[in-house]
Amino acid sequence: MPNYELKTKKSKELYERAQKVLPGGVTYGLRALPPYPFYVKSAEGVKLTDVENNVYTDYWVGHGALILGHSPKRVIDRVKKQLPLGTHYGFSHELEIELAEKICELVPSAEMVRYTSSGTEANLYTVRLARAFTGRQKIIKMEGGWHGGYDPLHKAVNYPFTKQESAGLDPKALENTIAIPFNDLDAAKKALSNKDVAALLIEPVQGVAGFVMPEQEYLLGLKELCEINGTLLVFDEVITGFRLSPGGAQEYFNVTPDITVLGKIVGGGFPIGALVGRQDIFERIDQIKYPQAEQRSAQGGTFTGNPISMVAGSETLDIIRGGKIHKKITKVGDKIRKGVEDIISRYKLPASVTGVTTIFAIHFANNKPKNAAESAQSNIDATKAFFRHMLENGVAYLSPTNCHAMLAEPHTMQDAEQFVSLTEEFFNKYKK
Ligand SMILES: Cc1ncc(COP(=O)(O)O)c(C=O)c1O
Repeated sequence: MPNYELKTKKSKELYERAQKVLPGGVTYGLRALPPYPFYVKSAEGVKLTDVENNVYTDYWVGHGALILGHSPKRVIDRVKKQLPLGTHYGFSHELEIELAEKICELVPSAEMVRYTSSGTEANLYTVRLARAFTGRQKIIKMEGGWHGGYDPLHKAVNYPFTKQESAGLDPKALENTIAIPFNDLDAAKKALSNKDVAALLIEPVQGVAGFVMPEQEYLLGLKELCEINGTLLVFDEVITGFRLSPGGAQEYFNVTPDITVLGKIVGGGFPIGALVGRQDIFERIDQIKYPQAEQRSAQGGTFTGNPISMVAGSETLDIIRGGKIHKKITKVGDKIRKGVEDIISRYKLPASVTGVTTIFAIHFANNKPKNAAESAQSNIDATKAFFRHMLENGVAYLSPTNCHAMLAEPHTMQDAEQFVSLTEEFFNKYKK
């Protein structure tokens, strides 16, 4: 019996119990790692401890939400202070202004902010706002782009991008969505040319597609094309926001979109989403300027502006402001990226590494992918075997079929060395 199964017997029992009450035994299909998930008992920094006291170094860091790792002291202290003062007001309060001001200070495109409880909802309200503002219906997204489970955007996520992505989607809701390949300005030009597209949504670095990087000038080219055609450029920075740099991918690549979708890090480890952007666009949500329901873009939600998420997010932004944390994490990221690249070239292996600063991905194919179709060519058996090898050795990330990983402040140079040496061990075996 392999090591994992030997040391995770209690997790197996929990998984069997879970299957009776949770479909597939999990709370998100993505978390059903094979052969069964380990069950986390506690987490600190970037170390996860399971119910049998096995320790894993975490490269998933709460779906990327935890740039400071698990339960950072300053954030926890601020949350503790807030807890007795109320966990959910349902009325206006100062903390929602405090966080919005900090977002506007850090994110170049942010002039106004609306909160949601998740990235999915933030995308939903962004699409609605873009349609309200432009009076147009069509939306462009990228092949391989993941924006959450909202029907109109739940299209062309998985290669070959032609199959229905879920049972139960409303086909009518998908009719106005056009999917084009990433890094292809000609395709964007063509799709925008009828001047009937409300918004072009893009993750500046594609996440689920395996951290596919934008080519030089691609994002700028999209901005120019959107301007010419009266289409709003939307960056979905749910992953890259506050992660690629304190101002996100838009600061890193120096391209400012009209609207930005945020989530994950901005909640400091608590549930959140947000849409931020140009004031003239966000006025469409304003109940004073647009008193008539049919003119206004409706937005809201029970838990929007939740005080716990507000204080945790606010404290997190205070900590990452200035970029010191990003510099520190980037050194660890560089060590891993360079270390793995070096192994690939020494062993002359068909593999490549993508990612910058706090993110990296390993692709088991010859060339760095320039879009999701190329990323999908990664050797699936090797990808799965690598996942298993790392898990057996106490390194956890998701998913088994997509080796992309995220870093946090507590990751050390020793963690990086361990990652690289385990990778070498794997490639050594894999080559034979
Ligand atoms: C780029 C991107 N957009 C949107 C979402 C959806 O966010 P949530 O899971 O908070 O609904 C995700 C989730 O991972 C994401 O990566």
